Amino acid sequence: MTETLLADITASEEQFQLATYKKMPVAAERGERVWIYTSDGDRYLDLYGGHAVAGTGHCHPHVVNAIREQSEQLLFYSNLVYSSVRARAAEKLVSVAPAPLPKVFFCNSGTEANENAMRMARMATGREQIVTFTGGFHGRTADAISATFLGKYRELGKPNVPGHLQADFGDIGSVRAIADDTVAAIMLEPIQSMAGVRMADTGFYRALRELCDERGIVLIYDEVQTGVGRTGEWFFSGSAPGDGVVPDIITLAKALGSGIPVGACLVNEQIASHIKENDLGTTFGGGMLAMAAVTATLEAIESDRLLENVQRVEAYLRERLSEVEQVVAVHGRGFLLGIEFVEKAAAVHQKLLEQKIITGTSSNPNVLRLLPPLCLQEAEVDLFVSALTNG
Ligand SMILES: Cc1ncc(COP(=O)(O)O)c(C=O)c1O
Repeated sequence: MTETLLADITASEEQFQLATYKKMPVAAERGERVWIYTSDGDRYLDLYGGHAVAGTGHCHPHVVNAIREQSEQLLFYSNLVYSSVRARAAEKLVSVAPAPLPKVFFCNSGTEANENAMRMARMATGREQIVTFTGGFHGRTADAISATFLGKYRELGKPNVPGHLQADFGDIGSVRAIADDTVAAIMLEPIQSMAGVRMADTGFYRALRELCDERGIVLIYDEVQTGVGRTGEWFFSGSAPGDGVVPDIITLAKALGSGIPVGACLVNEQIASHIKENDLGTTFGGGMLAMAAVTATLEAIESDRLLENVQRVEAYLRERLSEVEQVVAVHGRGFLLGIEFVEKAAAVHQKLLEQKIITGTSSNPNVLRLLPPLCLQEAEVDLFVSALTNG
């Protein structure tokens, strides 16, 4: 096979694809674990996980096999028929979810999961308003972008959908002030990723749960980034940093299918009891290929003990970063980390890229984001830290 060089690929993409993303000068051809191999024969350490998607690592053999085997059986049939593959994926996902979230709705992306979660909350309460937070990001379709009070995003969705209220992340008083009996749901990223990996105090999550219980409001956690093992627990919901709080709905996407597009809403019985035939739907949600990927992803996280790996390697990474003079603070949990620098994160990102390490920036100009595959090892952390301290 002849190699197509980066310059040719770049020219071709730029000719035929809308320029909606600022791209790195990397043409990804092959991936393995935490490594991306390029068309020019280079290899990059991927600490961004393909936008937090490659949780099990690039091309995990168990996931690849499951997709390959499923593709020879049946690529797709919709929810108009039953499927053992779908039944297994739903059962497996519910089995790792914090109780009591016993039902799942499958869709295709994070924004779609959030749209459906908000719709379910409105159906269950008969109310319309949704409270979300400054700094939160929930997607780019109409209702989700209207719920996104981060930087320029909401503006991009003009005219916005009515029924959205804004509160300050971490400030329960600001929520109490607006959460009246017109509010159907409070939705949050429990760790605000794009805003620069911001966490609230543990007490904030508990206070939100109590407020929702008191006022009959549905609590939705957008775990599109924090879910599926990223924080070193299956989900932020139910974990110690969130004081064990379990919301009424969790939304998921990104790492759930290891790269096969899939989203999901996990819901409690009370919400489920309000949802009837035809209330929600999507052609591709619950398709067999995606379902095979979900089950294999969750199995791989278990069999490779990736949650324990995240906890151990996070501790090592934090210890190594404490030696780096330019690092002001390390925010977040597990492998959703925001490293705050004295200098601009864009400059650090560029310096690392030149040393063949992929990281992410955020809307905080001083915070570099790491969202690596959950299988990252200590030796790879050492490569990152030496690159940071080089030059
Ligand atoms: C927290 C969060 N919610 C929702 C979304 C939207 O997901 P998708 O791009 O799959 O629609 C994202 C995407 O980055 C996200 O980070």
